[in-house]
Amino acid sequence: MYCLCSDKSFDEIISFQSQVKLPADILLETFTSCTSTGCGSCIEPLKTELAAHNLLINNNGELI
Ligand code: FES
Repeated sequence: MYCLCSDKSFDEIISFQSQVKLPADILLETFTSCTSTGCGSCIEPLKTELAAHNLLINNNGELI
């Protein structure tokens, strides 16, 4: 899948997150534009994909 608003593929986002392991909110604010200027339509599928890779992290650094 692809985030059109951020011009990034989910694979690219997953790859970045696997290295930095940011809380989901911070990831979406800083690496994608999903929660700022983006439409937000990919947030739920992206979170599902992140969770499937054990990369969906809350603000306490715990897996969601
Ligand atoms: S497609 Fe990802 S925020 Fe719009």
